[in-house]
Amino acid sequence: MEEGKLNVAWNRRQSIITPDTTCYRLLDAEGDGFPDLWAEWFDGRLLLQTQRHQPTDVRPLVKAFPGVRSIYWKRLDQRDKESPTWLWGEKVEEPFTVLENGVKYEISFTSGYSQGIFLDQRDNRQAIKERLAQTEPGSQRVLNLFAYTCAFSVAAAAGGGIATSVDLSPTYLDWGKRNLQLNGMDPAGHYFVKGDAFDWLQAFAKKGRKWQGVILDPPTFSRGQVKKVFRVEEDYAELVKLATQVLEPGGWMLCCANTRKVSSFEMEEQVRSGVAQARRRLSKFQSASMPADFTGDAYLKSFWLDVT
Ligand SMILES: C[S@@+](CC[C@H](N)C(=O)[O-])C[C@H]1O[C@@H](n2cnc3c(N)ncnc32)[C@H](O)[C@@H]1O
Repeated sequence: MEEGKLNVAWNRRQSIITPDTTCYRLLDAEGDGFPDLWAEWFDGRLLLQTQRHQPTDVRPLVKAFPGVRSIYWKRLDQRDKESPTWLWGEKVEEPFTVLENGVKYEISFTSGYSQGIFLDQRDNRQAIKERLAQTEPGSQRVLNLFAYTCAFSVAAAAGGGIATSVDLSPTYLDWGKRNLQLNGMDPAGHYFVKGDAFDWLQAFAKKGRKWQGVILDPPTFSRGQVKKVFRVEEDYAELVKLATQVLEPGGWMLCCANTRKVSSFEMEEQVRSGVAQARRRLSKFQSASMPADFTGDAYLKSFWLDVT
């Protein structure tokens, strides 16, 4: 690992990351001149990720990244999803807290393949918090589908919104409740719904339930209950259609897809088609770019919509 490039990556992040953020992408493969190496910084704990080789010599990293306490590694492998492996420094056996734009999130290096937060959504979370902070506290209901550890819900709640989080996993929803508590917010003031997002969207629509904001950030592939299989490249328009049906007139939607399989143009087509299929109109359509620490491939597609 070239020391010069590590120093450049470190200095670059220090100039773009504010002091109230302690977690970010520190190395973004080709974007920082390191093919097959991604690294995320979690308040001194460094998580390396590679597709092929396990890093062997971590000394250049220890030298280049002041304050590093631990180095872990995980193989990027969607079939064999394992927890990170310890390589150097303090063992991280307990969950710990990181800050993102002043909001706290619980991180774990021992609960599996994902550590509790997707750092590429930082700017979108902040945009939600800021958007809701401009409205009367408690006046905005936000539906967060595929919520995982409810990071979007926490951002919405930090802006004064009331969040409904839907996920197949009760373990992740419990993690989401802890994330709210970490920020001094009572989970009882929000809603947590276990189950298939497609199933629930249909049930909500039947009951006439509506939200002022809806967040769609699904996995690229999901095997649910009613709708057996979801593939982002084929089924996103249908998801948008169902979500639009539970959106108040004048509401907003954030539509994301974390995929290299679909171009931004194709995603935009699907999003627009979903809104049209729900017989609603767009009054605003804007794409958002990835956070500045994601210097490599822009795989995350994000669209902000206002719907009449
Ligand atoms: C990529 S994560 C979503 C990340 C999340 N939006 C965030 O901001 O952190 C995928 C999540 O979707 C959930 N999930 C997958 N299929 C689902 C489905 N059909 N209905 C509801 N949740 C689902 C998984 O349990 C997982 O927590």
